[in-house]
Amino acid sequence: MKILVTGGAGFIGSNFIYYMLEKYPSYKIICLDSLTYAGNISTLDEAMKNNNFKFIKGDITDRQLVFKLFAQEKLDVVVNFAAESHVDRSIKNPEIFLKTNILGTQVLMDASIKYGIKRYHQVSTDEVYGDLPLDRTDLFFTENTPICTSSPYSASKAAADLLALSYYKTFKLPVTISRCSNNYGPYQFPEKFIPLIIIRALNNKSLPVYGEGKNVRDWLYVEEHCEAIDLIIHGGKAGEVYNVGGHNEKTNLEVVETIIKELGKSKKLITFVSDRPGHDLRYAIDPTKIKNELGWEPKIRFDDGIKMTIQWYLDNKEWWTNIVNGEYMNYYEAMYGHREVITKGIKNTMIEEVASGRYK
Ligand code: NAD
Ligand code: DAU
Repeated sequence: MKILVTGGAGFIGSNFIYYMLEKYPSYKIICLDSLTYAGNISTLDEAMKNNNFKFIKGDITDRQLVFKLFAQEKLDVVVNFAAESHVDRSIKNPEIFLKTNILGTQVLMDASIKYGIKRYHQVSTDEVYGDLPLDRTDLFFTENTPICTSSPYSASKAAADLLALSYYKTFKLPVTISRCSNNYGPYQFPEKFIPLIIIRALNNKSLPVYGEGKNVRDWLYVEEHCEAIDLIIHGGKAGEVYNVGGHNEKTNLEVVETIIKELGKSKKLITFVSDRPGHDLRYAIDPTKIKNELGWEPKIRFDDGIKMTIQWYLDNKEWWTNIVNGEYMNYYEAMYGHREVITKGIKNTMIEEVASGRYK
């Protein structure tokens, strides 16, 4: 079996590559990644030592390159992780999200049709369903929940999903889609909430919590997402959507407090900052379909997964120091510099807070 994994130098894609190389020693894995700011080639250092693994630097929107790759490699399966994935960035600059997430998906599927791919898997997100109210804990996203997006990121992912389903119906491309909740674990880029909080807490820096920290996310340890995709590409039915996640709901404040407690840091580091525009209130997955059809269910409780994740960031300081000391600092300044810091009713910008010495 030969699998093309796009976006494999990013967080979930790299975890998937390691999962598959270990579980299927006879499979060949090819990674196509353009190495945007979120892709990190050093993440794949160990995979590079495996003869069954090959890395190709390239953009999924580059039609010529993609078609050439498909012509040369005789692929069986495509798993598309490649995407612009950060909601906050999509609010600042939506265009690249539309290009990569929608047009890139189209290019990969066009090539998949031409070269007779046996399974095209689109890695999607629960964000396509919008959000659920905080006071209705009885409600969950099912595969039949209507698409109702909030951010340019989620809108681009929803567009790609609809395009993929149209390719199944119109061109008979054997497509499957997984819609997963928030992942956490090794190799997650430090702009995302959990690694951001771990790394800043380790450095005794303020911990930015949007709004009042009441928004809820349904956290899934990344390896369990990889396991779900493995089951879907092998046993899932073409044309079907599978929700992945479930029953690890935490408010953002609970997540920060857990990390602070684990690291023995002070709660005083918590800094409430102005909210994300269009901030989804609650995500919660109903995983009944994938459980009944493919036998998948989440096993790792958040309390255990977060300990493993913190330990990974403690053991792999070099991996993230290289990131946070580089271009990322400019990003942090641009994203958070002018956010309001809300301290006991007084609203200042972060820059004013830094000047006053209250914000580190
Ligand atoms: P990530 O941002 O960590 O990694 C994305 C990878 O894609 C990077 O390596 C980047 O270099 C690559 N990439 C970006 N644009 C590309 C292009 N045009 N051509 C080739 N490569 C390109 O993302 P992630 O968190 O690992 O998410 C992977 C996928 O899973 C995304 O499709 C995302 O929408 C989806 N997803 C993520 C989560 C989550 O919690 N992180 C949850 C559900 C679904
Ligand atoms: O649900 C799946 C989605 O999860 C994926 O599709 C996205 O690719 C992935 O980035 C993630 O989206 P979120 O917006 O939920 O993740 P993020 O890590 O950006 O934020 C998680 C929560 O934490 C969210 O409610 C916003 C909040 N937050 C985030 C940051 C970066 C803060 O309070 N402070 C912060 O500094």
